[in-house]
Amino acid sequence: MKKLRVGVIFGGRSGEHEVSLNSANSILTALDREKYDVIPIGINKAGRWLIGAEPSQVLAEGGFGPQLIPAALIPDPSEARLVPLAGGEANSLDVVFPVLHGTYGEDGTVQGLLELANIPYVGSGVLGSAVGMDKIVMKRIFAQVGLPQGRFSAFTRKQWESSPESVLAEVENGLGYPCFVKPANMGSSVGINKARDRDGLVRALQVAAKYDRRLVVEEFIDGREIEVSVLGNDEPVASLPGEIIPCNDFYDYKAKYVDGDSALIIPAELPDSTVASIRRYAVRAFAALDCAGLARVDFFVSRKDGSVLINEVNTMPGFTSISMYPKLWDASGIAYSELLDKLIQLAIDRHLEKNRSKTTYELDD
Ligand SMILES: Nc1ncnc2c1ncn2[C@@H]1O[C@H](COP(=O)(O)OP(=O)(O)O)[C@@H](O)[C@H]1O
Ligand SMILES: [Mg+2]
Repeated sequence: MKKLRVGVIFGGRSGEHEVSLNSANSILTALDREKYDVIPIGINKAGRWLIGAEPSQVLAEGGFGPQLIPAALIPDPSEARLVPLAGGEANSLDVVFPVLHGTYGEDGTVQGLLELANIPYVGSGVLGSAVGMDKIVMKRIFAQVGLPQGRFSAFTRKQWESSPESVLAEVENGLGYPCFVKPANMGSSVGINKARDRDGLVRALQVAAKYDRRLVVEEFIDGREIEVSVLGNDEPVASLPGEIIPCNDFYDYKAKYVDGDSALIIPAELPDSTVASIRRYAVRAFAALDCAGLARVDFFVSRKDGSVLINEVNTMPGFTSISMYPKLWDASGIAYSELLDKLIQLAIDRHLEKNRSKTTYELDD
């Protein structure tokens, strides 16, 4: 059988560049070479696309080596090609795995380019990716489909800068302290702070406003952090949930990637009825956002009364071999490289399903 040519895009113009390198390293190692020709595609922090290295070179150099040459993906729907800008042979691609977290990668932008190029790709499309990245729009959709969640207020950076008193008053009257302040579009806890009083709130809003033009403030939820993996396209399934025990006050960037003492408990110890609700909510959230392929759906389970509140959907969750997403599937009997096979197949299925739709209108339709 002919091998599929799989482009693995990693790095990216995002605060989560390094996280992406780690995820991509695991994926480049695990992709079955009997089935796939693997083409690493780096995007550096300046947003330049780079190709030309063997996966083994990329792995040895931990991402970007001097041998990589600038390239561009030409969005030609008749033939998906990556073209080296300095001359040389173009790479054709059968499917792409955009292992990019955060802005310019997990947010629908790269997905849009891949749509224009008519290449199947792993994960959600433009809409699901964009909504999954935007905490404000995501929460509004959760509310619309009846998913339980904490209270929140949304502001623009302009509102905060022009009338800080009214922003502070809305938070203090509506949510109180402590509260969580976040840029609407980020990930890996970048720009997120817990505010315990007015001074803290002002500082947290200033920080969040550095990262985005829209800000969200949430009531504090005293909850256990429970995560579920969802896999599929139009008929998604949810794994058993796992629990994160952050090593810091909350699951901030350091607790995620630097301190390394946060624990994953798989499966989470929860009453059966709670597990059932969480899995049902996870699939509902996946469908509501029009996700595809994969997503990790994160919840809080209240320490007070055991109630379940949804926190967020991650459309390209951390994907190292020790990350929650693949580990939850591993615990359900799908090993890491088999999971990659399934995701690639889902990408191809979705592409075929999408291409069944007509793009032109005929008057007699
Ligand atoms: N409303 C909240 N109440 C309590 N903890 C929160 C709340 N929102 C976020 N957190 C903490 O901050 C972490 C990061 O927030 P999250 O919204 O998941 O952002 P990211 O998209 O960066 O992962 C969470 O995993 C949790 O530890
Ligand atoms: Mg999170």
